[in-house]
Amino acid sequence: EPTAPHVVVLFGATGDLGRRKLIPGLAHLTLSDLTPDVQVVGTSLEEYDDEGFRDFAKKALDEFSAKPLTDADWKEFAARLHYVPQGAGPEALAKAVKDAEAELGEGVRRLHYLSVPPKAARAVIAMLSAADLVDRSRVVMEKPFGTDLASAVALNAEIHQTFSEDQIFRIDHFLGKEAAQNILAFRFANGLFEPIWNRTFIDHVQIDIPEKLGLDNRAEFYEATGAYKDMVVTHLLQVLAFVAMEPPTALEPRAISEEKNKVFRSLMPIDPQNVVRGQYAGYRDQEGVSPDSDTETFIAMKCEIDNWRWADVPFYLRTGKRLAEGQRIISIAFRQAPKSMFPPGSGVGTQGPDHLTFDLADASKLSLSFYGKRPGPGMRLEKLSMQFATRETQEAEDVLEAYQRLILDAMRGDHTLFTTSEGIESLWERSAALLDDPPLVKPYPQDSWGPNAIHQLVAPHAWRLPF
Ligand code: BG6
Repeated sequence: EPTAPHVVVLFGATGDLGRRKLIPGLAHLTLSDLTPDVQVVGTSLEEYDDEGFRDFAKKALDEFSAKPLTDADWKEFAARLHYVPQGAGPEALAKAVKDAEAELGEGVRRLHYLSVPPKAARAVIAMLSAADLVDRSRVVMEKPFGTDLASAVALNAEIHQTFSEDQIFRIDHFLGKEAAQNILAFRFANGLFEPIWNRTFIDHVQIDIPEKLGLDNRAEFYEATGAYKDMVVTHLLQVLAFVAMEPPTALEPRAISEEKNKVFRSLMPIDPQNVVRGQYAGYRDQEGVSPDSDTETFIAMKCEIDNWRWADVPFYLRTGKRLAEGQRIISIAFRQAPKSMFPPGSGVGTQGPDHLTFDLADASKLSLSFYGKRPGPGMRLEKLSMQFATRETQEAEDVLEAYQRLILDAMRGDHTLFTTSEGIESLWERSAALLDDPPLVKPYPQDSWGPNAIHQLVAPHAWRLPF
C-alpha cells in the first residue's frame, strides 16, 4: 500500500522516548521524501500549548537529532506540531486531530503511537474509543506489553474490543535495527553459514547489551519495570529468536512470526537459579527510587532452547545500566577443533573459541575471529579477525534509525518487524517462575561488568566482553 498522508498522535509525547527518539525520528521522516505529508499531535500529562510543545521539541532535536536541522527545516517541522494535554479529554483530542487532518487533504490515515507504560495503555485505548479515533487508524504499542502473562492477556482482550489485530503494531525497536535484520540476511541469503548453524558446530551464544546509561529522568518507570521487563523479555529474547529460528517459508510477517513463536515455545521456562540479578551501588539513593528497592538494574541469565537444533547449547544473556561500557553484541562461539596438533605454548585456545560477532550498532557490523599463524619463526598462534561494516559499503544516509524504520513500516501497514501477542504471551509464560520468585539483587559497583556471580553463571565458558 502506498503511504497515505498521516496524522501521528503521540501519547506520552514529552516522555524520555519522545524526546530521545520519537520526535527526532518524526522530524527526519517528515522532512525526508520517505513519507508523504505528516502532521503530529502530541499529548501527555504536561499542560503545554502548541508553542510550549514546539519549544520542548526544539530542545529535543538540539540534543538528540543525528543531524542538526537547518532553520528552514525546523520551521517546516514546527508548523506541523500540535499539542493537547491529556487532561483536556477526548473531545479536545478529537478536535486537534480533525484540525490536523484538515491540513492534509484527502485519504488521511492516523497513527496512534502509545509511548506510555503498560499500566497506562488501557486508559489511552479507552480515550481513543471515546474520541471516535478508531477508523482509518493504526496503533503502535510500546513495550513492555503487559507486565506478566495475565496482564498481557487482559490488555490484548481490552484492545481487541476497540482495534482489530491488523491495526495493532507491537513495537520492539531492536527488530528495527539494521543489524537485527542483517541476522536474517546473513543466515538465509547465503549457503555458507546455515549448515554450521546448529549444536554440532556452535558451542554457545551470547547476547550481551551492557549500557553505560543510568536512569536519567525515568526513575518512576524503571523502578516499576527493572532490567528483565525493560530489556530481556522484550529486546534480548526477540533478537534471540532471529538467531535461533528455522528458515521461514517466506519473508513475510506470518511466516516469520510462526518460526519465532516456535522458538519461544521451545524456550525452557526460565529457572531463577540460572539468573543473576544485580543493582548498581547508589541506585537506591536516587529520587523516585525506594530506599529498599529490589528492582534489578542488571540481569544475566542462561537460557536453553529445547529443540533438535539447539539442545544443550546455552544462550547467555546480559544487560544492565551503569556498566563499564555500552555495547550491543551477539556472539556465536564455535566448538573447538576435535584434536589439537599444535604444541603447548603455541597459543591455540588461549584467547577463547573462534567467534562470529554481530554488533547491533545502528549500522550493522560483523566480525569473525579465529586463530591464525603469527608471522615469524616456529608455530605461534594468535587470534585474527575479519571485519565487515555496512557503513563502508553504503551511504551512511541509507541507514534508517530503528524507530524511523518501524514508524514507516507501521504507516505502510507492514507487520514483518513487529512482535505478536502469541509470541509475547509465550515469553511471559516462560518467565513465570522468575517473576514469582526472583533471586535477591546483588550489588555491583558502577562502571563494572555486574556482580561477580556472572562468571560462575557461564562457567566453563567466559564472557566475550570486554574485548
Ligand atoms: C529501551 C529501554 O527500550 O532500549 C532502555 O527502555 C534502553 O532502558 C534502550 O536504554 C536501549 O536501546 P538502544 O537502541 O539505545 O540500544
